[in-house]
Amino acid sequence: MDNKELIRMALEAREQAYVPYSKYMVGAALLTKESKVYKGCNIENAAYTPTNCAERTAFFKAVSEGERNFEAIAVVGGYKGAPVDYAYPCGVCRQVMMEFCNPKSFRIITAISEEEYLEKTLEEILPHGFGPENL
Ligand code: THU
Repeated sequence: MDNKELIRMALEAREQAYVPYSKYMVGAALLTKESKVYKGCNIENAAYTPTNCAERTAFFKAVSEGERNFEAIAVVGGYKGAPVDYAYPCGVCRQVMMEFCNPKSFRIITAISEEEYLEKTLEEILPHGFGPENL
């Protein structure tokens, strides 16, 4: 699976965003090492704090199905219409990635479109992270 295809799936996931409060729509597509993809969107809540980010929705769907080995995640975010800027995972989502992914090889692809995207490793966006290896 190439980056373009994964971004396309993240854009598809974004269509399901439940965002009556912020109106900011995020989609994620998480690729496992066995080439399976789990899609996620952000799901907001009237009480605000129970809100779940798109990235964590994708991770929790995958982990709850028994997946433990992850390769990459594509993320797209923005208000209604096509994304106009890069949306990076929040700190909480980075920490969840740290729990299940190798920081040196797990790739975060943040995209505006299938053609315009940036790719970073987890270590690049979460330097000196604390994870299972530290315990
Ligand atoms: N959001 C995500 O889904 N992922 C992120 O990494 C950043 C923020 C969502 C949460 C909330 O529904 C909206 O974007 C605005 O913060």
